[in-house]
Formats: sequence, structure tokens, C-alpha cells
Amino acid sequence: MSVDLKQKIYVAGHRGMVGSAIVRTLKEKGYQNIVTRTHAELDLTNQAATQTFFAKEKLDQVYLAAAKVGGIYANNTFPAEFIYQNLMMESNVIHQAFISGVKKLLFLGSSCIYPKLASQPMAENALLTGLLESTNEPYAVAKIAGIKLCESYNRQYGISHGIDYRSVMPTNLYGPGDNYHPENSHVIPALIRRFHEAKESKAPQVTIWGTGTPRREFLYVDDMAAASVFVMELDKTVYDQETQPMCSHINVGYGQDITIAQLAHAVGIAVGYEGKIALDPSKPDGSPRKWMDSSRLNRLGWQAQCHLEKGLALAYADFQKTQSKSN
Ligand SMILES: NC(=O)c1ccc[n+]([C@@H]2O[C@H](COP(=O)([O-])OP(=O)(O)OC[C@H]3O[C@@H](n4cnc5c(N)ncnc54)[C@H](OP(=O)(O)O)[C@@H]3O)[C@@H](O)[C@H]2O)c1
Repeated sequence: MSVDLKQKIYVAGHRGMVGSAIVRTLKEKGYQNIVTRTHAELDLTNQAATQTFFAKEKLDQVYLAAAKVGGIYANNTFPAEFIYQNLMMESNVIHQAFISGVKKLLFLGSSCIYPKLASQPMAENALLTGLLESTNEPYAVAKIAGIKLCESYNRQYGISHGIDYRSVMPTNLYGPGDNYHPENSHVIPALIRRFHEAKESKAPQVTIWGTGTPRREFLYVDDMAAASVFVMELDKTVYDQETQPMCSHINVGYGQDITIAQLAHAVGIAVGYEGKIALDPSKPDGSPRKWMDSSRLNRLGWQAQCHLEKGLALAYADFQKTQSKSN
């Protein structure tokens, strides 16, 4: 299928880790007409401002990578902000996209939409089959609403208005543009910072919380961006064959998970830390395993490309860049 590289594409959240990777990927593929707005220029929780933007820009496609995102602490402390802002952004963007005639939209969700006790690997049809993890339930409910918004607009207006709104659910992501905040970051950027600081201070040992046995899956963010563009470009008949109108989202994973101890070891190597890695089993572990079933996406013809070792080296280079900028 040929793609029209002149289509006018809005990437919402283009300064975020995923949105910036989507912009990079679209530019590399030759898309020439990419529209962006910073949060300060356009607050997507503001219905009137979002309406004015969509009415004026007359867009062909939208990637919805803007979201209020955070770790366990932020989700637990600000649950109202997480559910309200995400619901508003999704509702405003998806509805105004529809009203202004946008034919194709890609909504980005997260693996937290799946039940806490979902069987592993988590397949798309595990959605709404059980209770969610309580710490980020408000955020997950908003993300589920985003999938259902896309599906409902497709079901009601797909044929009459020729719209095709899709959703992708990434596993844990890492890479350039990540948040390396000492207290509020995900596991890979947190480990990169800790190993880097231990290397700098010549600390003999880095201690990792928990038993090191929980298994997690990690995907390099440029792979996520490539998967997003791949899903957006998929021919509708091919997409429809693999999905159902009320189970239309697609998981995006690396395909393999690793233990936290293996991950810590790999980060240590990427950073060049030569000390010892110790475990503190008195600290909590979290779920024993979180692994996405990406077979739907694999059957459609996409596979992750960036191996963990290479991805961690690139992520560490990005971290060093952010450090030299802040010094
Ligand atoms: N990172 C991961 O590991 C991961 C894993 C799975 C899924 N995802 C999903 O991927 C998507 C993007 O995540 P990310 O990691 O790229 O997040 P991020 O780095 O925090 O980026 C989010 C972007 O959204 C913008 N934004 C937030 N509120 C906005 C508003 N009211 N109006 C306009 N823009 C707003 C932010 O701008 P400001 O910074 O200026 O507020 C930022 O540029 C999210 O849906 C997330 O659930 C991420």
C-alpha cells in the first residue's frame, strides 16, 4: 500500500518521550507536514482551545501521545489529576478530530489497562476481565476509556464518515527523552542514574530493591514509534482481519521479558559500573511477572528491532547528554 507523505499529521505530546520518537520516525520516513503544539501553546484539557485548533488546522491524521504520566507515587498522590486530565485530553482530541474530519487517529494507552491478575503473557482480550491494580486504577480507567472512545466512534461513524481510529498499548518503554528524576522515574532510567552515580563516586556496591526475581518487559522507544507508524499505515482490511470492533487495540511489546536482577546487570554493563550488585529482599517486589502478548502485532508483520544491550547503551548516552546540559 502506498502512503501519502504530504498528509497533515498532528503529533500531540511531541515533547514527551514517545511523541518525540514518533516525530523522529515520521520525519525519517519522509512525512513532510507534521503539526505540533507545546502544552503551553495548546492545553488539550481545554475543550474550546482544542476545538479552535482542530477547526483551523484541518488535519488528516492524529497521533495522541499527550497524557498526564507518572510513577506509583504521583498516581497515588494525585489520582484526581490523573483521571480528569487524561479523560479530558482523550475526549477533546478524539471528538474534535471527528468533528473536524480527521479520518485516521492513533491513541496510545498502556499495559496498566489489564487486570492485576491477568494471565501472562497479557493478550488484548484480557481487557475488562478483572480488577485493576489499585495504585494506578484512575489512570488505567482513563486509558480504557480512550480505547472505548476510538471503538465507539468507529462503530457509530466508521462507515458513514470513513473514520478509522486505532489504539496501541505499549509495554514499559525506555530511551531518549526519558525522565531521570531521582525519586519519580521508571525502573530503567532510575537504574541508569544510580549506576552512573555509583561509577562516578566509585561506590563498591549498588543495592537493588527486592529479590531481583520479578520479570518485566522493556521496549526501546524508537521501536515503539516505529510500531505506532506501522499500525497507523496498516491497510484497513488487514487491520480489521486481526481485530474486532470491541477489541481493537494492539499490544506493543519486545516479545521477551527478563528478571530485574538480569536488567540491573545489563544496566551496570551499559554504564560501565564495575562494583558489586546486591539485592535487598526485605523490600517489596511488586507483581511476579508483567509481559505483553504481542502476537497480534507480530502476525500483522511487525517485530521489535532494538536489543536491550544496544538500547541501554543509547539510553545511557542520552542520560549523559542531559547531565552535561544541566551542569
Ligand atoms: N513511558 C513509558 O514507559 C510508557 C509506557 C507505556 C505507555 N506509555 C504511554 O505513552 C504516552 C506518552 O508517554 P510519554 O512517556 O511520552 O509521556 P511524557 O514524556 O510525560 O510526555 C507526555 C506529553 O504530553 C504533554 N501533555 C501533558 N498534558 C498535556 C495537556 N493538558 N495538553 C497538552 N499536552 C499535554 C506533555 O507536555 P508537558 O510535559 O509540557 O506537560 C508531554 O509532552 C502516554 O499515553 C503513556 O501512557 C508510556
